[in-house]
Amino acid sequence: MVLENKLNITNQIELNKIEEKLSKEKAKKFFDSGKINQIKVGTFAGLKQIHKYLFEDIYDFAGKMRDVNISKGNFRFAPVMYLEQALKHIDKMPQSTFDEIVEKYVEMNIAHPFREGNGRATRIWLDLIFKKEIKKVVDWNKIDKEDYLSAMERSPVKDVEIKHLLKNALTDKIDEREIFMKGINVSYYYEGYDEYDIHKLL
Ligand SMILES: Nc1ncnc2c1ncn2[C@@H]1O[C@H](COP(=O)(O)OP(=O)(O)O)[C@@H](O)[C@H]1O
Ligand SMILES: [Mg+2]
Repeated sequence: MVLENKLNITNQIELNKIEEKLSKEKAKKFFDSGKINQIKVGTFAGLKQIHKYLFEDIYDFAGKMRDVNISKGNFRFAPVMYLEQALKHIDKMPQSTFDEIVEKYVEMNIAHPFREGNGRATRIWLDLIFKKEIKKVVDWNKIDKEDYLSAMERSPVKDVEIKHLLKNALTDKIDEREIFMKGINVSYYYEGYDEYDIHKLL
C-alpha cells in the first residue's frame, strides 16, 4: 500500500521520485534561505520543524507525531502509547559532548516519531546539534551506506559502531554549503533515493 499523499499518487515508484525531488528542493531551500538556523536545536519541536519543512507539500503527516506502530527489520520503534513520554525524555537528554549527542540521536531513532522520513529529518537534526554544541558537522560522504545502516540497526543494543562511524566523519567546515548539499544527497542515498542530484534541482 502506497502512503496517502497530497499528490494523490498511487504508484510507489512514482511517489518515491516525486517525494525525492520535492523534498530535496526543500532541503536546498532550507539551507539557502537561512531557515535552518532558526531551528530549536536538540528538541522534538525542532525535529518537527525540519520534518514539516521537508515534507509538507507531500504528506499531511509532515511534522506530526505518528499514530501507528511501525517497525523495520526486526526492530519495533517506540509504541505510540509511549511515544510522547519518550520524546519528553529525549528533549531533556544532555547534548554537550560527542557521546551525549550520539546517545540522544540513537534514542530519537528508537522513538522514530513520524510515519516516514525519520532518517532524513533526524540526520539534519543531528548535524544541527553537533554544529551548535561541538562546532563540528558530519561529512556524510565519509560514511558508507551499508556501514551506516548496520550501525543504526545495532544502535539500540550497542552504540559503539555508530559512534565510531560518526566520530571519523566529523569535520569543522560547519558553514560550508557544499558539505550540507552533498550530505543531503548521501542521506537520501542511504534510504534508496538517488534519482536526483540536489545540485541540479531548483
Ligand atoms: N532495523 C533497524 N533498527 C533501528 N533503526 C533502523 C533500522 N532500520 C532502519 N533504521 C533507521 O531508520 C531510518 C529510516 O527511517 P525512515 O522513517 O524510513 O526514514 P526515511 O524515510 O528518511 O528513509 C534509517 O536511516 C535508520 O536510521
Ligand atoms: Mg523511509
